Amino acid sequence: MYENLFEPITLGPTQLRNRIFNPPHGTTLGADGLVSDELIAYHEARAKGGAGLIILEGMAFHPSFAFESAYLNAGRDDIIPGMKKLSRACGAHGAAVFGQLFHAGRSVRYSHDGSRPLVFSASDTPDDRYRVVPVPMPNDMVWEVIESYATAAARLAEAGLDGIEILASQGYLIGQFLNPATNRRDDEFGGSLENRMRFLSESIARIRGAIGGSKTLGIRITLDEKTQFGMEAAEAVKVCQILEKEGHVDYFSVISGSSSSPDGWIHVFPPMAVPPAFVANDAAQLKSAITKPVLVAGRINQAQAASQILSEGKADMVGMVRALIADPEFPNKVAANRSEDIRACIGCNQACVGHRLTHHAISCIQNPVTGRELEFRPRSTRPRRLVWVIGGGPGGMKAAVTAADQGHEVILYEKQPKLGGQVNLAEKLPGRSEFGGVTTNLIGELDRSSIQVCLSSSASPEAFHAIEPDVVIVSTGAVPRLPEVEITGTQLLSAWSVIAGEKPSGQNVVIADWSSDWSAMGVAHMLALSGHKVRIFSGASTCGESIPAIVRDQWFGELQSLNVELTCYARFFGAEDQTAFFQHTINGEAIVCEDVDAVVSCYPPRSNNDCSWVSELKAPDTGSLQITTIGDALAPRTVEEAVLEGFKAAWMIE
Ligand SMILES: Cc1cc2nc3c(=O)[nH]c(=O)nc-3n(C[C@H](O)[C@H](O)[C@H](O)COP(=O)(O)OP(=O)(O)OC[C@H]3O[C@@H](n4cnc5c(N)ncnc54)[C@H](O)[C@@H]3O)c2cc1C
Ligand SMILES: Cc1cc2nc3c(=O)[nH]c(=O)nc-3n(C[C@H](O)[C@H](O)[C@H](O)COP(=O)(O)O)c2cc1C
Ligand code: SF4
Repeated sequence: MYENLFEPITLGPTQLRNRIFNPPHGTTLGADGLVSDELIAYHEARAKGGAGLIILEGMAFHPSFAFESAYLNAGRDDIIPGMKKLSRACGAHGAAVFGQLFHAGRSVRYSHDGSRPLVFSASDTPDDRYRVVPVPMPNDMVWEVIESYATAAARLAEAGLDGIEILASQGYLIGQFLNPATNRRDDEFGGSLENRMRFLSESIARIRGAIGGSKTLGIRITLDEKTQFGMEAAEAVKVCQILEKEGHVDYFSVISGSSSSPDGWIHVFPPMAVPPAFVANDAAQLKSAITKPVLVAGRINQAQAASQILSEGKADMVGMVRALIADPEFPNKVAANRSEDIRACIGCNQACVGHRLTHHAISCIQNPVTGRELEFRPRSTRPRRLVWVIGGGPGGMKAAVTAADQGHEVILYEKQPKLGGQVNLAEKLPGRSEFGGVTTNLIGELDRSSIQVCLSSSASPEAFHAIEPDVVIVSTGAVPRLPEVEITGTQLLSAWSVIAGEKPSGQNVVIADWSSDWSAMGVAHMLALSGHKVRIFSGASTCGESIPAIVRDQWFGELQSLNVELTCYARFFGAEDQTAFFQHTINGEAIVCEDVDAVVSCYPPRSNNDCSWVSELKAPDTGSLQITTIGDALAPRTVEEAVLEGFKAAWMIE
């Protein structure tokens, strides 16, 4: 099945073993602009997992964009030794490696020293997302950047990379030159299409001159920036046709969205609300207009969808960033006819994009080994233990499958008739059903193991004595908490009970949001869809403050359309006779909210102390017993920590 994914293909002079590529993505695994062992191990895992081509993260190369140490810097000669090691490590597993050259132009938030960055663009058009006003790049600097593209490309070619990709997409610098809305220049780089694309054409021509014909040269381009003032798709196609005629480019990689506008950037890192394979039709549009290979990426997380893009002739290669962050073995599993074993990415944008945006090494909420490949290298066999995992939420399930992978005998107890813990609630929120993939993926891993899963089984001291485990992992999660305020004459419900199906008694619902996470936005969405008038009062500076910004932004769009009202800096104080009281968290003034039928509280859950008896066990019961508490049972947080701690607890078993 899906054999077309494994047909070889040639991009310029580079022969690839299959049609699956790993598109460029910032990892924050480099060290001060250079390649680190962690970065090599990260890419080696994807090469070993079967990807045909790895395109390394966008690299800075000119001082006009060298602000953030999170970027690799191809403007430095000392990047060459590390790059050589990286390309050899991936090449040894049969993957080709290209490097992407990246200039963000005005789309920059930080400088090196905390001052506001001085950023350059085609013109001084302010950036809608980063809220910066750029300096129009002086004419001689434009020519200097063009030269720098060529010297940086030559450096990467010297380091043994098989090809170079220019990022001309997503509204970054080249996009800012191409787009008439952001390019108001009157020199040879502004005005007509020919002038606006001169920056790109000249850069490409000089790169080709610098790397010669033995290396591949490609560009990444956006057809649909998904924002009002984005580039026109027809013009982007024209640009590609002209470039093809100029004869230097070996492939065109299509993507969507723009980093420089709030609506556009949702599509750069598309969350689960964006449909799978959503860029495929854009790729098809370009493919019908040019002859060189067309690559595409964007929410391709299933083998079936990937294969269909190829069979329908929409693109020549399919890209997967987050799908391979979640499961680097994706290509090998498909090749071995084990597609159902793939740990599918759910588009939550938490540990990948979320970490990148806060300048931390990327990982995955489902796969904590990502970004930690060196820390969790396979280790020597340990004595086989009997491991008792209590609680079948994401943390407990991850602990169980990891312990079984390590060769231990595992028994998993889950109190409910169903595995999944709080994920069973999370997936009920509108547009969030894919979050349930966390459970589906883990149940798949449990099914393929020899773990004894006991549902509707509550852990107890009696069970402990019957099992006599060597190791106990307590992953009993959390229980809801209600606000400690006075409420009379108004219904109070917890978010958990509303999600589980309990109905507010009337139409007018107020949400008292302490957590500022998924629950308030999700419950508001749910109730507004069922016809309630919903007002959110959040104690934070914005609702959803603690969730990935892209997910929050996307959700705000939905809530606005449903007329959900939002008041921030509002601490819940109580309710009486259909009036809810809040206090402004800064000036202390009262905020009075009338006509309230029900208050839904989104308060942080409490750790579940169901199994506090475990920590009270005394010798001789304890002996050499190893006990670890993980996830929300330790402190209520998110799936990411539950899975990471579950994994570590099992990994550490002695
Ligand atoms: C509405 C909602 C939306 C959320 N959205 C997200 C999100 O988008 N992203 C994210 O990362 N996190 C989200 N979370 C939080 C996330 O679901 C939790 O942090 C995570 O599930 C914690 O995992 P856990 O395994 O530690 O505990 P839990 O998921 O709480 O699982 C604990 C399990 O232990 C079982 N158990 C308890 N006592 C016993 C016992 N004595 N014996 C046997 N079994 C027992 C319980 O029945 C339960 O199945 C959301 C939570 C909610 C409520
Ligand atoms: C953490 C992260 C960093 C990214 N950095 C880059 C980058 O440096 N250059 C680039 O062209 N795209 C970058 N992207 C966009 C991806 O290449 C890709 O287009 C996007 O993730 C959608 O594909 P996916 O659904 O397969 O993840 C990044 C994506 C992620 C998740
Ligand atoms: S953290 Fe979420 S979006 Fe990122 S790779 Fe993992 S599952 Fe996919």
